[in-house]
Amino acid sequence: MSADKSQRKILITNALPYANGPLHLGHMVGFMQADIWARFQKVRGHKVTFVGGDDQHGTPIMLGAEAKGISPQQLIDDTEALHKESLTGFSIDLDNYTGTHHPENQRISAEIYTKLKERGHIDVRVIKQAFDEEKGMFLPDRYVKGTCPKCKAADQYGDNCEVCGTTYDTTDLIDAYSVLSGKAPIEKESEHYFFKVSDFEKMLLEWKNSDALQPEIANKLDEWFESGLIDWDISRDKPYWGFEIPGAPGKYFYVWLDAPIGYMASHQVHCEKTNDDWHSYWNADSDAELYHFIGKDIVRFHTLFWPAMLKAVDYRQPNGVFVHGFLTVDGTKMSKTRGTFIMAETYLKHLNPEYLRYYFAAKLSSSVVDMDLNLEDFSARVNSDIVGKMVNIASRCAGFISKRFDGMLAEESAAPELHAEFADAADSIAARYEKREFSQAMRDIMALADKANQFIDEHKPWILIKDESKLDEVQQICTAGINAFRSLCIYLKPVLPNLVADAEVFLNDGELNWSDLQTPLLKHQINKFKPLITRIESESIERMVEESKKSLEPKPAQKDAVNNEQSTALGQDPISPEINYDEFAKVDLRIAKIIKAEHVDGADKLLQLTLDIGGETRNVFAGIKSAYKPEDLEGKLTVMVANLAPRKMRFGMSEGMVLAAGPGGSDLFVLNPDDGAEPGMRVK
Ligand code: 2FM
Ligand code: ZN
Repeated sequence: MSADKSQRKILITNALPYANGPLHLGHMVGFMQADIWARFQKVRGHKVTFVGGDDQHGTPIMLGAEAKGISPQQLIDDTEALHKESLTGFSIDLDNYTGTHHPENQRISAEIYTKLKERGHIDVRVIKQAFDEEKGMFLPDRYVKGTCPKCKAADQYGDNCEVCGTTYDTTDLIDAYSVLSGKAPIEKESEHYFFKVSDFEKMLLEWKNSDALQPEIANKLDEWFESGLIDWDISRDKPYWGFEIPGAPGKYFYVWLDAPIGYMASHQVHCEKTNDDWHSYWNADSDAELYHFIGKDIVRFHTLFWPAMLKAVDYRQPNGVFVHGFLTVDGTKMSKTRGTFIMAETYLKHLNPEYLRYYFAAKLSSSVVDMDLNLEDFSARVNSDIVGKMVNIASRCAGFISKRFDGMLAEESAAPELHAEFADAADSIAARYEKREFSQAMRDIMALADKANQFIDEHKPWILIKDESKLDEVQQICTAGINAFRSLCIYLKPVLPNLVADAEVFLNDGELNWSDLQTPLLKHQINKFKPLITRIESESIERMVEESKKSLEPKPAQKDAVNNEQSTALGQDPISPEINYDEFAKVDLRIAKIIKAEHVDGADKLLQLTLDIGGETRNVFAGIKSAYKPEDLEGKLTVMVANLAPRKMRFGMSEGMVLAAGPGGSDLFVLNPDDGAEPGMRVK
């Protein structure tokens, strides 16, 4: 395809990762999906610009830098260098990488905000918030903990209880304390700036009904419309790491205001470098297409606030916001103790990035469902499809061509019909890629690879080669095989860029493009074949898992899906407020034997435990369902708080508390003493 009217101008972004921790494999889902799609559009001959950068503002970055004793600038610079290394390692082909703290982002954010204000879309209101007097700062919900007002579970976050699932206001918490200082926060008033999203309801309804959104996302928007569009608080008080709001000293843009504008800023930096026309991409009458790839936790920002903001200042709407699900590993949330919380750099130390690119492609579809990386299936799939099917075709044929025919392909192929079949699939495979049905595309491509292998099996060049009179035939068979391999390379070029780059050297015909599918390589000199990829060895996976277990890096901040205020960059629960010895001595810790463990109807997180504490049994509800099957607990010893006042819960009375350690979810371990402990023994 030449640079004519059929050439599309496409601008692609993937969610900007927070600059408060290294990238892990969960991040790579979006990056790979966007990168494969971008590379697909490029190989089809379109003009593609794929821009990114780090999301560099917010409280966790400010506090993270403080905890490390460095400036926020230093922290974001260090993180950007690490992120870039990981992205390059996975061949994420970004045209530009500029973080949101860049002056260009400050300029565009200020411009947009000023217009929003001039046009009457900003409201100033006084709100009350938790304030830490010792730290001198307002506390986002995630920085306040206390006892759940409903079920009385201790140490719950300021917005919802992880034990009973109730959501509430921070001010409802009992004995609330700041996770930063341990002190009880006070309530303090302050002026906040709100973007009036409701001004754009009509436009958002139209946008929702366009084909920019996946059906499940459009349904989500319907729910938000039904409950009424809520104006969006876009300011934060100092101290805050971000851009100060023009004309509002001491007020800063909330990280989520300037994060998506970061897409524009990164693109602007790219346009300056390449002399491209930024406005022709962003103006309302743009002839370019704009697509955002994001995870399912940040839909509201990209499908309500962002399009409304763009509209408010006369910019264009995205053509698509493509939402993907989360990554699980071996069927559950990534877990450090199991070694499945795998950092990008750890993966890259042990395994070829193209393995994962292929595996993700083989599992990704256009839907929002979560994706599982099953480590056994991963190696089986890659070894079978890429090594056993695709590359095998070339290695079965290349040796004969180079040794017996001086690297020359025949004038004719032994299987023009096979070539035609491969070429005929071009449109349907392109349609699969276009719709992000990558898994289906991979299945179609591997079905073609099966056909090529069958053809070689049937014609047995390794037998014919022994017969001098059959040499021409062998050359034609192998020419068919090499051409089949070449077509597979074109189809898989978006997924396996490095392997295909090496194959391009072997094929000696320049860069492969989609249009090359129609013309076979005949009477053409190829280069000596070098192994393109090796099998995944299970030892490499084991080593990666072992190293991931050892990694003591704090967990990157988890995101709060409710309002996406970032959680603590420290990554671990801070130590609770100090208590004195007398207070400690009041806690009666006992060894308890779990004699029965059962599911609780209607409870997502609780198990009902019957505990024997030496002649007395207790009924306790414990929030450990995500970590344990009931049958695995029965018969085990654990430690419990035996003198905790009984609490009435929705499901019954809880008579004590079982002690467990860990960050939560599946990473939760009930304390499990051995060495002769007996039910009822006091723990000292
Ligand atoms: O959720 C996140 O990881 C955010 N840092 C994504 C920002 S996307 C864009 F708006 F910058
Ligand atoms: Zn609760």
